[in-house]
Amino acid sequence: MPAALDQAAAALITQTATRTVDALAAQNLFHFSAPRHTLVGAGATLKLGELLQSQSVRRVFIVADQAVHQRGLLAPALRSLSRATIEVELFTGIEREPGVEVIERGVASLAQSDADFVLGCGGGSAMDAAKAIAVLGSCGCDLDALTAAGFEGRRRIGLGAVPTTAGTGSEVTDISVIMTGSQHHKIVAKHATLMPDVAVIDPTLMVTLPAAVTAATGIDALTHAIEACVASAGNPLSQAFAMSAIGEIARALPVAVGNGSDLAARQTMAVAAYKAGLAFSNAGLGLVHALSHQIGARYGIAHGVANGILLPHVMAFNALVCRTDYAAMAPVLGVPGAGSSGCNSSYSSNGNNERRDCDNTIAAVRRLLADIGLPDNLVPFGARVEDFAELADGALQDICIQTNPRDVAPADIIPLLQKAMQPPGPQSPASGF
Ligand SMILES: NC(=O)c1ccc[n+]([C@@H]2O[C@H](COP(=O)([O-])OP(=O)(O)OC[C@H]3O[C@@H](n4cnc5c(N)ncnc54)[C@H](O)[C@@H]3O)[C@@H](O)[C@H]2O)c1
Ligand SMILES: [Fe+2]
Repeated sequence: MPAALDQAAAALITQTATRTVDALAAQNLFHFSAPRHTLVGAGATLKLGELLQSQSVRRVFIVADQAVHQRGLLAPALRSLSRATIEVELFTGIEREPGVEVIERGVASLAQSDADFVLGCGGGSAMDAAKAIAVLGSCGCDLDALTAAGFEGRRRIGLGAVPTTAGTGSEVTDISVIMTGSQHHKIVAKHATLMPDVAVIDPTLMVTLPAAVTAATGIDALTHAIEACVASAGNPLSQAFAMSAIGEIARALPVAVGNGSDLAARQTMAVAAYKAGLAFSNAGLGLVHALSHQIGARYGIAHGVANGILLPHVMAFNALVCRTDYAAMAPVLGVPGAGSSGCNSSYSSNGNNERRDCDNTIAAVRRLLADIGLPDNLVPFGARVEDFAELADGALQDICIQTNPRDVAPADIIPLLQKAMQPPGPQSPASGF
């Protein structure tokens, strides 16, 4: 063989061997992302100015929920920014479930504002709007580009979030959910550049939240934690955050619903929603969210309410492949006599029946939903069996379906929706699929 060919063959062998070794060495890696700065505690918003000043922020464009603004909940943040001599521009046109039009108006206002930081203040609706406005405004692109595969835009402006609900975890996720007005369809944008740089968790901003909204948003957080715990892209960190959020929500949510001014319960819920957000942003979600995006948009059902109706049905369906994981949630949820506590890898049924622990977990979730007064079926919202095939198609195209632990076909979703049309019977087995 000529010397040149000899050398080429040797180089190829070395290259192949190196790649193989690297591939073997790089197994079981995971990446975990979170905001760079998080401030937590009663009155944390009063420290916002100092924090942004330390980041050399000059002018903040605040994207706020209309009702949150009217209730005066922006006052502590505004005082703090003023003390830090940071200028402010307010954009307060956000109502429930932001649509493309309000995002476009926000992008146009941001362009006029000379701001170097966007701050979302409100529930998931306001935070998601702020995230989309910051990214689209600084990349000069539209929502289609942001949701397209391989989007390479980078936000060139700071981004922060101050939640006033304890639910979506949007303050720690790389996700923004936007409604397309005409089609009654939700677009889920997921990209690293949507992750806020700063999250400020202040439970004093949550005491004005009505009981029904506390219940619905709290169940959104519980759904994030349960779906993230069994999501196919999960990792040990996301599972630890998710499992700890499940226990905290089970304990604190009934108190926060029953006594809205209990600051300790509000703080526990706010931190649990944050943990659940971290978990699902890094692990993915599942069929509950894939389907709730469809029924929420179609019938105008609040996001947390839609999740609550679907959650026990989807858990029963997924139990086939994640019985151990659900069983591990039983002690965390305080189910009497369940196997020892801990996250799924350390769960031990202690001779108890794993199937029984799994069924008790689903029953405990149903009981929590009933205790806090959330609806358990779709009938009051005008759901129609004729729509189910289209809703199933939409769910199968939703990004959240990609990490559901069990394979899902349209033929699986339609019976599940049919079950969600009826109140659960007292005799119905929890994991019946
Ligand atoms: N980005 C994400 O990771 C993510 C995750 C889940 C859901 N979402 C999206 O978030 C949106 C839902 O957000 P949400 O559940 O927080 O509800 P929301 O932001 O729509 O707010 C619900 C209602 O509560 C009011 N409100 C908010 N804070 C209040 C307070 N402190 N006191 C009194 N009233 C208050 C609002 O004015 C609104 O009427 C949906 O669009 C959903 O699809 C996003
Ligand atoms: Fe959600």
